[in-house]
Amino acid sequence: MVAQRIKEISYAIREIAAVANKVAKSGKKIYHLNIGDPVIFDFNTPRYISQALADASFGGKNFYVDSLGAPELREELSKSLTQNYNLNINSNDILVTTGVTEAIFFLIAAMIENKKELLIPGPSYPLYINYANFFDGIPVEYGLDESNDWEPDIDDLRKKINERTQAILICSPNNPTGVMFSEKMIKQIIDIAGEYDIPILSDEIYDQIIYEKPFTCPASLSKDVPVIGLNGFSKTHLATGWRLGYMYYHDPENKLDELKEGIAKMARARLSASSIAQYAAIEILKNPGTHTKEMVGKLKERRDYSYERLRKIEGITCVKANGAFYLFPKFDFTELGKWKDDKEFVIDLLETTGICTVYGSGFGEYGRGHVRFTFLPNLKILETVYNKLENFIK
Ligand SMILES: Cc1ncc(COP(=O)(O)O)c(C=O)c1O
Repeated sequence: MVAQRIKEISYAIREIAAVANKVAKSGKKIYHLNIGDPVIFDFNTPRYISQALADASFGGKNFYVDSLGAPELREELSKSLTQNYNLNINSNDILVTTGVTEAIFFLIAAMIENKKELLIPGPSYPLYINYANFFDGIPVEYGLDESNDWEPDIDDLRKKINERTQAILICSPNNPTGVMFSEKMIKQIIDIAGEYDIPILSDEIYDQIIYEKPFTCPASLSKDVPVIGLNGFSKTHLATGWRLGYMYYHDPENKLDELKEGIAKMARARLSASSIAQYAAIEILKNPGTHTKEMVGKLKERRDYSYERLRKIEGITCVKANGAFYLFPKFDFTELGKWKDDKEFVIDLLETTGICTVYGSGFGEYGRGHVRFTFLPNLKILETVYNKLENFIK
């Protein structure tokens, strides 16, 4: 027996991996362009970071730490938010979580119930949709406009606000499009949120993985609109397995006090996030190293290569990513002829060539007709992948 809410959870990124495992059993080599985990490619966690984790473990830091997070870590996070984005966030307004995943879970659990609505970008990272449904709410997607470099369609966003809307979620750089929202758009979203007196949730997990333009931090643009920022160590610091993230409240007019206390209650109920990961994270923040910059340098080359190969294939159009490590091309299945939709294409591609991608419809309605490709593998693998893809489509 399992509850209906569990039956409704769907997470295409992991589901396609299950199909890939079956294909692998038949002896086929799998090319993983599906999962956004740099560590399983040639982006190794730097030695000093792994050492910090070992030191924390051997150094007596293995215990239930403060439910809101180790005070020293929250202090360091507060300093880094000031340094990076000129924010003035008190360490008491920072909560350490088991990945951004848990932060999203806490927020949606605390804000959404009884058909209340969460405005999220469409296409959307699947977790927002899943958790909004799980807590008996409604995930409402505001369109990102592919013909305008995946910028939010601000009129669509405005149209979709009503008295049930609890928050507007921004994810920039975006998963799955790989594109950042412009500063102008973010300002407009903040203005609209202010007009309707609703807070902004800002998933900033890719803030340091950017190629041409600087990252715009929504909280730094907001005078009075509450912005809850979400970030973590998974991608920037090559620590996906540590499961360490955090949220911070930019709340100049103290509108979020009740919510903050509600979320703190949830945090206390689950005791704490990993203590050893937290103490190791303090070391990373004190000595951020060069690994992020190096990773971004390599990724930029891989992005350029993947983008050039994709856009040369007839029947495919693609917006160039300027952040994260995803490209989200559109497939004209009428022109291509053979496949009915993105899911059928992705499964056929996987079974025939071993190339594992994610079908766009797994990212909500707006993702239909698209396929998400990561550009994490090295150039040699990418070359093989795109040669195979070209032949497959021909
Ligand atoms: C947009 C976005 N938010 C959150 C997460 C989850 O991050 P974490 O590893 O911190 O749980 C991901 C992971 O791919 C992501 O792409």
